[in-house]
Amino acid sequence: MPHFLDIHTTDTTALRAMIDQAHAMKAARIGRPKAAPDDDQPLKNHMVALIFEKPSTRTRVSFDVGVRQLGGQTMVLSGSEMQLGHGETIADTARVLSRYVDMIMIRTFEESVLHELAEYASVPVINGLTNRTHPCQIMADIQTYEDHRGPIAGRKVVWSGDGNNVCASFLHAAGQFGFDLTFTGPEALDPEPEFVELARASGAKVEIIRDAERAVEGADLVVTDTWVSMHDSQSNRERRHNLLRPYQVTDALMARAKPDALFMHCLPAHREEEVTNAVMDGPQSVVFDEAENRLHAQKAVMRYCLGK
Ligand code: CP
Ligand code: NVA
Repeated sequence: MPHFLDIHTTDTTALRAMIDQAHAMKAARIGRPKAAPDDDQPLKNHMVALIFEKPSTRTRVSFDVGVRQLGGQTMVLSGSEMQLGHGETIADTARVLSRYVDMIMIRTFEESVLHELAEYASVPVINGLTNRTHPCQIMADIQTYEDHRGPIAGRKVVWSGDGNNVCASFLHAAGQFGFDLTFTGPEALDPEPEFVELARASGAKVEIIRDAERAVEGADLVVTDTWVSMHDSQSNRERRHNLLRPYQVTDALMARAKPDALFMHCLPAHREEEVTNAVMDGPQSVVFDEAENRLHAQKAVMRYCLGK
């Protein structure tokens, strides 16, 4: 009964198989009504709990629709409305939920909550974002790159901006999928050194270059994300904006990348902050394909977790 907690802790072959299955499932749904179940319905008679301790649009809707397409049922729970938010331990919550549901997806703050839930649950647990990582997003992003440009192995990905949770999962994926990652951003917002070392140890070329224009030279993919994540204190907002402004993704920056480079953003975007409207809505942007692929990639993740 595997969990899906992080990309670097998931088997490399299994990750590749999930992406391949996501491609196949996406192709099989062309022309089908969104609520029509997949032919094989691998999650028939299965109940999945989706717990949110932070806001969500894409994760919530894509998991909910994905489970239904796989033939299962969902229950969407707000952490603050559960006893979890009122003093019941994570371990007891895990034990209780395991008696009712076949799988749990959680979006939470501290990574320790995810790990404790996984330790005490007797059903698979999926990471729907923590302060430190966002693995489901990167599975969708790999699928999206491959939809447009073929295998991501050997490509150069440039992360411009905050070395946050989404950046961390890109670092984890670099080693697993064999691409290079260049981080460009202010030193104060570097990705965690542990994650950089981990990516390097797994064979990925990881560079940190402060000058954004130099960093994106030769890039196949340019990625950014919000300058203030959900767990970041709003009191640091101005400082973060000042530090990150030189890393805004603009047409001028994209012009330094390869001519066929793609632009990605996990969304929600803050237009004219981390990315201009021109890039978001421009021909290199695949941001809405990424959002769609959350559905297909996560269906593959859920099938993996349930051995289906
Ligand atoms: N990208 C992403 O996880 O979006 P939501 O916060 O809307 O779920
Ligand atoms: N880094 C962002 C991602 C949102 C999907 C956050 O954690 O708020």
